[in-house]
Amino acid sequence: IPVSIFPNENQASIAAAQKIANLIRKNNNGKKPTVLGLATGSTPIKVYKELIRLHKEENLSFENVVTFNLDEYYPMKSDATQSYVTFMNENLFNHINIEKQNINIPDGTLEEKDIAAFCLAYEKKISAYGGLDLQLLGIGRTGHIGFNEPGSAPNSGTRLVTLDDLTRRDASRDFGGKENVPTKAITMGVGTIFKAKEIILLAFNKKKASIVKKALEGEISPNVPATYLQLSDNVEFILDVDAASDLT
Ligand code: F6R
Repeated sequence: IPVSIFPNENQASIAAAQKIANLIRKNNNGKKPTVLGLATGSTPIKVYKELIRLHKEENLSFENVVTFNLDEYYPMKSDATQSYVTFMNENLFNHINIEKQNINIPDGTLEEKDIAAFCLAYEKKISAYGGLDLQLLGIGRTGHIGFNEPGSAPNSGTRLVTLDDLTRRDASRDFGGKENVPTKAITMGVGTIFKAKEIILLAFNKKKASIVKKALEGEISPNVPATYLQLSDNVEFILDVDAASDLT
């Protein structure tokens, strides 16, 4: 896996945003839509900040961009402060010229009986656009990508999953206590992510160093779903020095 290591999160985020912007510009020139898979959480915030700057200051247009988010908590009201709908609106969508109908985020408001059909339709919609051009990923301390926790199969599709205890602990600050963090989520599968033409995994901070090492250097195993990325030849890791500090 190609790994790019930057002195800090800022520079790494600008480099990742530049790659996304180049793809959008190329497709805009060719009058083609750009289909992006997006992540939430603390990691991509500065990437989105730079994309907003490129939109406002350097004419980057999102008019022909279609987005599919990786995941959403379940159950989750769209307008809740912790929803990934709210996160994406506040950190990106409210500040760029993306068309509302081009935004796709797993629906945390569904009745449980309707989730399987929704997930199948999500997969079909991605395929109907010709697949994801680029998928942005973070990594959880459990080794999850999206919310594909340990035990996830390499060919898994979009589905309802149970969150790992460590994942819920890591989210507890946003919810004012672990007991308030939903126990489930709807996530794109490992198989869904793998179909993307290009995958960029971002990781920053010392607290990601050990899981980044496992993802890149560990044995490929369902115990650390990010190790599946070793089987892809379109993936790149973009790290800051701290997240890279355990690599040999
Ligand atoms: C978020 C997602 C997760 C996060 C991961 C890291 O949409 O799919 O896999 O990328 O939990 O979260 P942060 O960036 O908050 O450390």
